[in-house]
Amino acid sequence: MTTPSIPTALIHHPYRAPEGFLAPQLPIYQASTVIFPSLKALRERDWRERDGYTYGLHGTPSSFTLESRLASLEGGLHCTLTPSGLSAIAHVNFALLSQGDEVLLPSNAYGPSLALAKGELAQFGITHQIYDPLDPHSLKSLLNARTRLVWLEAAGSVTMEFPDLRALTALCQAHGVLSALDNTWGAGLAFNPFDCGLDVSVHALTKYPSGGGDVLMGSIVTKDDVLALQIKLSHMRMGTGVAAHDVAAILKGLQSMPVRYAHQDQSARAVAAFLKTQAGVAQLLHPAFEGSPGHAHWRSHCVSETHLEGLAAGIFSVVFRPEIESARVDALCEGLKLFKLGYSWGGPMSLVVPYEMASIRGKLPAHLLPGHLVRFCIGLEDPQDLIEDLKQALHAVNH
Ligand SMILES: Cc1ncc(COP(=O)(O)O)c(C=O)c1O
Repeated sequence: MTTPSIPTALIHHPYRAPEGFLAPQLPIYQASTVIFPSLKALRERDWRERDGYTYGLHGTPSSFTLESRLASLEGGLHCTLTPSGLSAIAHVNFALLSQGDEVLLPSNAYGPSLALAKGELAQFGITHQIYDPLDPHSLKSLLNARTRLVWLEAAGSVTMEFPDLRALTALCQAHGVLSALDNTWGAGLAFNPFDCGLDVSVHALTKYPSGGGDVLMGSIVTKDDVLALQIKLSHMRMGTGVAAHDVAAILKGLQSMPVRYAHQDQSARAVAAFLKTQAGVAQLLHPAFEGSPGHAHWRSHCVSETHLEGLAAGIFSVVFRPEIESARVDALCEGLKLFKLGYSWGGPMSLVVPYEMASIRGKLPAHLLPGHLVRFCIGLEDPQDLIEDLKQALHAVNH
């Protein structure tokens, strides 16, 4: 072949980086196209096998590494990455449910998960019902011939009830129904979802694994080979890949996650303990605190010989007394200087969001006191500074 011209030489240059460049972090493998050495190799390649590569959407060294680390973290065997935590929830529904099936959701489910059931799932002929996660009888009474999947959250979104996971999954198993946990709160650290009898664990990596408040990603972990393939095939057909630089960011974040999680847990407990003593506070919703709904279940799942104080995510809610006007609670939130107004959790910056109790829970359950609910997500700031910030802002509700 003659010497290639410059445009060709810029693509087909003979230099090849030698093997052996070692650095603490994995290189970022970015690809849609993967080159095959021969047509035989191309024809024989099966995208489902993990001993080679086919196409960027089906996996790269970066995504396979992240998937296997997440499967180990959660005590599972297989993992599928999705572009957000919510898309992981959606994928589980789309992979496992068919027209005519019914899915059960806890009454404290992540809001968009319920919206998905009311929207697309209903549109595809899949019905849903809501059970009380603190009452296994409520779940039992709803299980029927059409029930195919039960979602669980521990602790639940916003109102933070911790359910008896083992009792709920035992009911699912007895009925031959699959169970899937949104394990974002536990992050694979507070308890092992598969030891609790779950079939699927979904994780919004956007929260603690990222830790930066800057990356969106989700994962679906299973132990069962057949279930894993069903999810992989559905995921492949929908084409929802994840970006290489995002995978690298999560791989990096995972390494410091256990330290951050434990630190944010301790800071959150310090801030929650301070708020609990305030005159305007009617109820603290933090599963590690005595009196919080499901506290005994939290103890039985999250306290262990290695974590005698138990582990909990750095997120909790507070119910301010109903006689305080809601405008004052809003003023408290807006008066905070270090806490910022924003959704999400697990990042470096502390966040606060007031919620309309009526809009997240139609009818107030007996274990929740009436009032104005505010959710606090604790970041990596010094907790004493956060308490000082709260002290100055609490004037809005105290006066
Ligand atoms: C419990 C829970 N699950 C899932 C999600 C969805 O994660 P993402 O924002 O990555 O879609 C969130 C986000 O707030 C969440 O709080």
